[in-house]
Amino acid sequence: MSATQIDNQGRLRHLLSLAELPAAPMVALLGRAAALREAASGRAAPPRSHPRATLGNLFMEPSTRTRASFELAARRLGLTVLNLDAAASSARKGESLLDTLRTLEAMGTNVFAIRHSQGGTAAALAAGAAAGSHVLNAGDGRHSHPTQGLLDALTIADHKGADFSALRVTIAGDIRHSRVARSDLAALRALGTGEIRLCGPAVLLPDPEESEGCRVFDSLDEAVAGCDVVIMLRLQRERMDDGLVPSLERYTRDWCLTPERLARAQRDAIVMHPGPMNRGVEIDDAVADGAQSVIFAQVANGVAVRMAVLDAMLGGEPLV
Ligand code: CP
Repeated sequence: MSATQIDNQGRLRHLLSLAELPAAPMVALLGRAAALREAASGRAAPPRSHPRATLGNLFMEPSTRTRASFELAARRLGLTVLNLDAAASSARKGESLLDTLRTLEAMGTNVFAIRHSQGGTAAALAAGAAAGSHVLNAGDGRHSHPTQGLLDALTIADHKGADFSALRVTIAGDIRHSRVARSDLAALRALGTGEIRLCGPAVLLPDPEESEGCRVFDSLDEAVAGCDVVIMLRLQRERMDDGLVPSLERYTRDWCLTPERLARAQRDAIVMHPGPMNRGVEIDDAVADGAQSVIFAQVANGVAVRMAVLDAMLGGEPLV
């Protein structure tokens, strides 16, 4: 898949999964995002513009953050934006997603952000897209959410520095169903994180091969102790068979990040959550809104990261 994402001249063609993206282009995208954030804030020269490009937002699952930030990122770079209303589109009449993409290509759309419940959808569309088109995976099932992985890495770097080698990072909750966890894991591994801890109830842990190199805990108290970063995950009830988590009350008792649990982490530990949050289920209000929370800094970084990805794809120069 990496050949598809980065062409043989080192240019970013599509962004489908961080697991197949080498560390060097990942670092380059993070640097570009930080620079574009300066530009967007007026502290640096304005970013270059891509007025001939059109972004098609094809979100076949709900989204607030990802869809809005792709649109804002694109507008800040001078693109035209087309938001397809999935519920009112001809997909409801049985049109395939690839035919939908080709239809929009025929109207001049050349960049597509795709969200879908099926893993592999973005890669399949990238394989069928025209030579000049770009496909961005905006989340496919439980498989991958690459721009979220990048914005999470940027947020950690903002607060803990670019050297991840001494960091202890805990990812907690519903890891099994989380595309965010898979993309965060890929980014954390590529950036040389010192220790990655995974924890959650046994039914919500990933397969053993996915946990390779990580410390796996069955207690949130233990997993949080001494860590520098805590990434809490949303309980994804829409991706679960009934009964997987029999009692929400018990889940909250064992797996909710409370101020008492957070007190076991480093004093300057940061708390992250990709959103949307189930407040009072996996994260307590006092933690979500507390001094150690960087949850809305993650949201802000989402715009910068998506600008960086769009700018890299449309700029035409090698990424590294
Ligand atoms: N983090 C994230 O993907 O949020 P949305 O579902 O709101 O896009």
